[in-house]
Amino acid sequence: MMTEPAAMLSSSYRLRPMTAADLNEVYVLEQASYSYPWSFGILSDCLKTAYLTRVLDNAGQAIDAYGIMSSGGGEAHILNLCVRTKLRGQGLGRYLLLSLLAEAKALEVDTVLLEVRQSNKAAISLYESIGFNELDIRHGYYPSNKGRENAIIFAKELIGKDFW
Ligand SMILES: CC(C)(COP(=O)(O)OP(=O)(O)OC[C@H]1O[C@@H](n2cnc3c(N)ncnc32)[C@H](O)[C@@H]1OP(=O)(O)O)[C@@H](O)C(=O)NCCC(=O)NCCS
Repeated sequence: MMTEPAAMLSSSYRLRPMTAADLNEVYVLEQASYSYPWSFGILSDCLKTAYLTRVLDNAGQAIDAYGIMSSGGGEAHILNLCVRTKLRGQGLGRYLLLSLLAEAKALEVDTVLLEVRQSNKAAISLYESIGFNELDIRHGYYPSNKGRENAIIFAKELIGKDFW
């Protein structure tokens, strides 16, 4: 059983659904975080679907992290997980991911899937530390400044697991 990660967070943090009013701020974090970021339109469309969208809101002052997940048919896909650059390495990403897994479990999801760039060592280390296992590699899946980059597909079974 994992340690309750909320204890590592300042009590000023609140995990809540993303709203249209958050999109400008989320878009800025997105642009600062990825070499091929999602457009404002893609982020906005995520609010119009049945996706689960969450932000870590620091006392209404700033959004410091966000996550987006789809679910259906017993599977969930983590589509985005992002922490403000200057606040990385402090447990926000782990907290957010565990929170999404807990929500997936509440939705009776059996398997959570995600894909990650092979070069994204921080994210891969986070996923492996939480018990995600490599399922597959999609060769040349992502654009990159060196041509194409592989995606690693990770999966985690939720059946019978306790995350907190
Ligand atoms: C991946 C990301 C969400 C991690 O968030 P974070 O808040 O920095 O992560 P945490 O502080 O919760 O760290 C959790 C674990 O991640 C791994 N990790 C985090 N930063 C790391 C780094 N710089 N190098 C290696 N591992 C790292 C470690 O396993 C760490 O566990 P530890 O603290 O016990 O060593 C964050 O780096 C990020 O937003 N990156 C840009 C967006 C992105 O690439 N998202 C993933 C898309 S698939």
